[in-house]
Amino acid sequence: MHIRVRGAGHDYEGLSYVSEVPFVIVDLINLRTINVDVNDKSAWVEAGSTIGELYYRIAEKSKTLGFPAGVCPTVGVGGHFSGGGYGVMLRKYGLAADNIVDARLIDANGRILDRASMGEDLFWAIRGGGGNTFGLVLAWKIKLVDVPEIVTVFTLDKTLEQNATKLVHKWQYVAPRFHEDLFIRILVSRLNSSNQGDGFPTDGPLDVLLSRVQFSTRYFKAKSDYVYQPIPEGGLEGIWRFFFEDEAQSSQVMILNPYGGRMDEISASAIPFPHRAGNLYKIQHLVYWDEEGEEVAERHISWIRRLYSYMAPFVSKLPRAAYINYRDLDIGVNNIKGYTSYVQAKVWGIKYFKNNFDRLVHVKTKVDPSNFFRNEQSIPSLLSGRTKVINEVHHSIKNNMMHAII
Ligand SMILES: Cc1cc2nc3c(=O)[nH]c(=O)nc-3n(C[C@H](O)[C@H](O)[C@H](O)COP(=O)(O)OP(=O)(O)OC[C@H]3O[C@@H](n4cnc5c(N)ncnc54)[C@H](O)[C@@H]3O)c2cc1C
Ligand SMILES: *[C@@H]1O[C@H](CO)[C@@H](O)[C@H](O)[C@H]1NC(C)=O
Ligand SMILES: *[C@@H]1O[C@H](CO)[C@@H](O)[C@H](O)[C@H]1NC(C)=O
Repeated sequence: MHIRVRGAGHDYEGLSYVSEVPFVIVDLINLRTINVDVNDKSAWVEAGSTIGELYYRIAEKSKTLGFPAGVCPTVGVGGHFSGGGYGVMLRKYGLAADNIVDARLIDANGRILDRASMGEDLFWAIRGGGGNTFGLVLAWKIKLVDVPEIVTVFTLDKTLEQNATKLVHKWQYVAPRFHEDLFIRILVSRLNSSNQGDGFPTDGPLDVLLSRVQFSTRYFKAKSDYVYQPIPEGGLEGIWRFFFEDEAQSSQVMILNPYGGRMDEISASAIPFPHRAGNLYKIQHLVYWDEEGEEVAERHISWIRRLYSYMAPFVSKLPRAAYINYRDLDIGVNNIKGYTSYVQAKVWGIKYFKNNFDRLVHVKTKVDPSNFFRNEQSIPSLLSGRTKVINEVHHSIKNNMMHAII
């Protein structure tokens, strides 16, 4: 049986708890101890914790330390850190995975390793190379970052009539160049559609961060894109046209996240996450719906696929890059029932990891040759394929010989 490791279950394609083949879920929900060391400015976080629990435990001990991870508190550190993990501090401090300094991991042989015993190759791979691939992470050691006691947050709404197109157009030139203390992202959605933020109250007691239940749960499909050149106004107007279609009514949102700052300084090969200097911003495309049924789902999914095709000329090419934590099985999948070749995996792998893909394959082949940890988008082991091919050849030779003998 396959193993599916589940952190907080936020995988966009449900890979931590859905599979076509028989599988066992290893759910980490009980591994949630978080030890914050204010003097060392570090913390050990067990892999079943959510980022909300982590933020809460840090806030309990210090008002001037934080951690640069995601926005929604119910996201799990298990999957989130394994794929990079970003939030409003990424221009100042990079990704969550950029700030991991040690880890405890169970490898495919059942050994428990730390950074020293796993070695730098494997430690590199688990900081962004994707979950359920190199082993089961039990806990992360992270470096906390300095934050001011008071931050300013503001929201500005603009409609098309208020020249929103010009604003978005201009934003592309300035947002990636702002001082790293300033993070201004754009959420584009149809007027009065119901997708403001994550639904969590912004005032009141901090313990809302401890809730593992998402405020609202709806059906959705998402995709990601990276932008190197500002999109011209005409191109933006073409995007808005999709927003007026029926499928966008129940709600869609396009989130533009500025890069630059610290993201430009970290080398594209420092960790497996490769989207660094040159990226102006990342887009997340989302469409939501409430009604059950295949037909409704198909309609909304095909809407977002059409939008994605429309975007092609305006975004990164060769490869058309994507963010693994916005998991999208449309961009390519492994053969989950059998052997996945290097070439087959490279189709999606190069989009998530660019030139880091080969090093990830190398590490995987070394640490998990039999491909024990696997899913639809896990790095393949070259050896498991070779072994299988060799076995098949042996098998067919044996059969032919038996045939000849008979
Ligand atoms: C509402 C919502 C908001 C989000 N906001 C952000 C955001 O602000 N920034 C951002 O970067 N991303 C965001 N994401 C995406 C999020 O980072 C990914 O979905 C992430 O992988 C979720 O981690 P998880 O542990 O909750 O998910 P899971 O579904 O449990 O895990 C995801 C993958 O990692 C594997 N995995 C989990 N734990 C481990 C472990 N301990 N060891 C090995 N493999 C493991 C799983 O098998 C699966 O393949 C958001 C997602 C949602 C649903
Ligand atoms: C929109 O832009 C036009 C042309 O630049 C300008 O005349 C108009 O005042 C702007 N409208 C608003 C609401 O800012
Ligand atoms: C949006 O909602 C407001 C307040 O409910 C309403 O006055 C306005 O007409 C709505 N706009 C659209 C385009 O539906």
